[in-house]
Amino acid sequence: MTPTGAESKAESSREEERTGAVADDASAIDVDELELVYSDGTVAVRGIDMTVPEGEFFGFLGPNGAGKTTTIKVFATLLSPTDGAVRVNGFDARSEARKVRESIGYMAQETSIDPELTAEENIRFADLADVADKRAEEFSGGMKKRLDAATALVHRPPLVFLDEPTTGLDPKARNRLWDYFQRINDLGTSIFLTTQYLEEADQLCDRLAVILDGEIVADGSPADLKREVGGEVLDVELDGGSSARQRAATIAREFDAFADASVSETDEGISVTAETARQYGTDLLVALRDAELTVTGFNIRAPTLDDVFLAITGEELDTDDTEAGR
Ligand SMILES: Nc1ncnc2c1ncn2[C@@H]1O[C@H](COP(=O)(O)OP(=O)(O)OP(=O)(O)O)[C@@H](O)[C@H]1O
Ligand SMILES: [Mg+2]
Repeated sequence: MTPTGAESKAESSREEERTGAVADDASAIDVDELELVYSDGTVAVRGIDMTVPEGEFFGFLGPNGAGKTTTIKVFATLLSPTDGAVRVNGFDARSEARKVRESIGYMAQETSIDPELTAEENIRFADLADVADKRAEEFSGGMKKRLDAATALVHRPPLVFLDEPTTGLDPKARNRLWDYFQRINDLGTSIFLTTQYLEEADQLCDRLAVILDGEIVADGSPADLKREVGGEVLDVELDGGSSARQRAATIAREFDAFADASVSETDEGISVTAETARQYGTDLLVALRDAELTVTGFNIRAPTLDDVFLAITGEELDTDDTEAGR
């Protein structure tokens, strides 16, 4: 962090307010062969390696039950690793747990705030001024999330863990928290975020890792991961329900020009990802029409993180808002 001019004074006084030292030249997180087996024998994390440099905004993605919360709990010293080495801000998570805890902020997946808390600064930080007199127990779920985030960040720790911080928030509240996280990161705080919202990961994160069944199966910047998907995506909207989608998918898979394409059925129709999507897309549309399928719309676009996730895990990440607030 190299602030300039008028900012630097404010910055250095904030620096002094920070709690918790960081060991010299340490990465925010350095993990070697981490394994975590729960007492009932569940193997939640199987030998993961990762390094998160100081100052990075790092995203950890994976479907339900993949091992995200377990990993975060190990980093926050709430769970002791079964095997492997974990250093957080340069401190050993096993033998220097207290130092680790003093140098991090942690926003748990389940909202956990002090119901008596009215601290003015927390409220100001979380943009909750209009409800400043309310007791926290009267807050809505979204307001609790925002207060919770403020509580994790208010002491300006050098590293913050955010476990699905925006699940259940309305889009406006989510955007406000994104701005807040971005600002905190711009001031030098490293952030380790898990999320079900791929758009959130795409907007905020410098680098991502995808965890599947306790193992890291992909990592890189959002742009790198999208490039790895390769080519472009042709989305085709169809009338005629799932039988039409199945027939269209079969036609696309057997289409010569799309020999190495990946074809999937979507809610509206099919998606075809291929290097040749732009070149031969119209030929596919003609073939679908010749098979008496009704094409109601189509679009060619660059891959998104949703396509990355689909390519890696074979399933779409469930971001259905009915799941919100779990
Ligand atoms: N206390 C526990 N005892 C035994 N098994 C557990 C415990 N907590 C979690 N698990 C199991 O460990 C695995 C990883 O769970 P974890 O909560 O880390 O997943 P997650 O990626 O955070 O999922 P979600 O997206 O639903 O929050 C799952 O199989 C889960 O059932
Ligand atoms: Mg979790």
